[in-house]
Amino acid sequence: MSHILLVTSSPRGSEGLSTRYASQLAKRLAAQRPGTTLTVRDLAAAPLNHIGEAYVVGRATPPGARTAAQTEAVRLAESLVAELAAADTVVIGSAMINFGPPSSLKAWFDHVTWPGVTFRYAGNSVEGLLKGKKVYLVTAAGGNFSEGPLAAWDHQSGYLKHLLGFIGLTDIEHLRVEGMAHGPEAAQAAIASADEALQSLLKRAAASVEVAQ
Ligand SMILES: Cc1cc2nc3c(=O)[nH]c(=O)nc-3n(C[C@H](O)[C@H](O)[C@H](O)COP(=O)(O)O)c2cc1C
Repeated sequence: MSHILLVTSSPRGSEGLSTRYASQLAKRLAAQRPGTTLTVRDLAAAPLNHIGEAYVVGRATPPGARTAAQTEAVRLAESLVAELAAADTVVIGSAMINFGPPSSLKAWFDHVTWPGVTFRYAGNSVEGLLKGKKVYLVTAAGGNFSEGPLAAWDHQSGYLKHLLGFIGLTDIEHLRVEGMAHGPEAAQAAIASADEALQSLLKRAAASVEVAQ
């Protein structure tokens, strides 16, 4: 049985395209695999605190010696890591905000990127400890960043892929919804292109389910 974790973070509510496409994708992947369960972590509706001293000091302190605030902060991070570890498929929706991901999504990564738990240093290199998962990353942006002069300004996609890979999540498919800010015609074309990309991604996913059966 498959388990999908859907993480959304657009601050634009029902207008959020990353949320719309990531949610559609998660639901349609679930429909391809009978018995699939889905957990939704909506970081815009229920934002996490930024990490602070209680978490940073608490996770380096033995459980019995933690203050109440440290215990609470570490428990939250443990529950987020457990939620992520329980999934075989992770779908992440990220809105470009000032050329990076929303701060709510950064806060989620700050909780789940944890030395000794989701990654470890091995000699001179780093080993990600969350292995064998499929990740679908959906990014939405006003500009066009996949190619052309603005590509170097995309501090969202590469950053998120780096963080995912750092904790072992290296099998990533990326769906871009981009170019929404260049007038109605360009926005329409962007949606058509994202719809097409979604369909082809779902076809590939369905084919891989068939191969596995
Ligand atoms: C506060 C804010 C900052 C934004 N910053 C950028 C930006 O730096 N670059 C860009 O191309 N688009 C930017 N946009 C446009 C969004 O990336 C675009 O609306 C995208 O669709 C947001 O994703 P969402 O639809 O999932 O909310 C910004 C939008 C908002 C509301």
